[in-house]
Amino acid sequence: MDLCELSPSYVRSIAPYQPGKPISELAREMGLDEKRIVKLASNENPRGIGPRTRAAIEAALADLARYPDGNGFELKQAISRRYGVDPSGIVLGNGSNDVLELVSLAFLGPGRSAVYSQHAFAVYPLATQARGARAIVVPAKDYGHDVEAMAAAVTEDTQVVWVANPNNPTGTMVPPERLETFVKRLPERVIVVIDEAYNEYLHADLRADTLKWLKRHPNLVVTRTFSKAYGLAGLRVGYALAHPSVADVMNRVRQPFNVNSIALTAAAAALDDMEFVARSYAENLQGLRQLEAGVRALGLDWIPSYGNFLTIRAGRAADVYKRLLRRGVIVRPVGGGYELPAHLRVTVGTAEENERFLAALAASLKE
Ligand SMILES: Cc1ncc(COP(=O)(O)O)c(C=O)c1O
Repeated sequence: MDLCELSPSYVRSIAPYQPGKPISELAREMGLDEKRIVKLASNENPRGIGPRTRAAIEAALADLARYPDGNGFELKQAISRRYGVDPSGIVLGNGSNDVLELVSLAFLGPGRSAVYSQHAFAVYPLATQARGARAIVVPAKDYGHDVEAMAAAVTEDTQVVWVANPNNPTGTMVPPERLETFVKRLPERVIVVIDEAYNEYLHADLRADTLKWLKRHPNLVVTRTFSKAYGLAGLRVGYALAHPSVADVMNRVRQPFNVNSIALTAAAAALDDMEFVARSYAENLQGLRQLEAGVRALGLDWIPSYGNFLTIRAGRAADVYKRLLRRGVIVRPVGGGYELPAHLRVTVGTAEENERFLAALAASLKE
């Protein structure tokens, strides 16, 4: 008997999430020195973490024998102070991935549907399918979310609409006014998730006022993360901002201690380090321009990006990906579920890492 058969068919047919290849794995496979490998595959922050956050982490080590604060009081207070939201409308997660899962646990199930865009972040199909809900995938326009078509695609049984702004892996964004018109158009019975994992990489003028919209739209859920501009991907911490009754139902399906104590302390410290985030933003912009110039010089096209990564049209991308691996450079192929078989996504690294990538890309294209 195949024990797989015991799980519901909608679970069995899930295509597993493909993470960026770990450095240690490539080193083992190719016999390469880990220190010579450049990983630009998971949209992490090349700055690492700031000294204040490091100090908070060191202080938190003293209390590791105890369970964390299951309600994350201090971190919620810090978020509440920063954004002027009530702590009752905050849901903390083990990465923002976790809060996306909580949305699906709280609102999706068989007989319900969720709307998202073609090329949208991979967790939306996963979280939708894992609950047995039906996916309504709306074709992208110029690689980006066609929000007008997404609103039109909502049906009687639609419970959730997923929007990544900016989106990964395309780096596209929906301008604030257009996004607000879209939110207004959706019926109040539909939860609309605006996933702002890359919000800090947007120029201030391009950031939507989503936290203000929360007051007018109780069906809105805004998700944010400490994994990107705050540099804490390895600790796993993110959050959702929502109407208190939406947050309440999400909290009911949350594991009691879903965010560990070091992550809670580090995130609160990182949130206060505005200078670190400002530098991350500025360096990312420089890195993007460096990558664009290098890619242009190689005669390749890319999708204009508002995130900390660039998605490049590289012809036979799967082959180029393998050739880059042999040169010790890990990027992300975005064929498969993302339906971008001719593209590769590269994370903005340090100036030196970007240079290594561009040199390896030039050599791989000639091969
Ligand atoms: C659009 C988007 N949302 C959410 C996430 C989840 O990140 P995390 O779980 O680290 O917060 C990612 C990670 O790459 C992302 O690209």
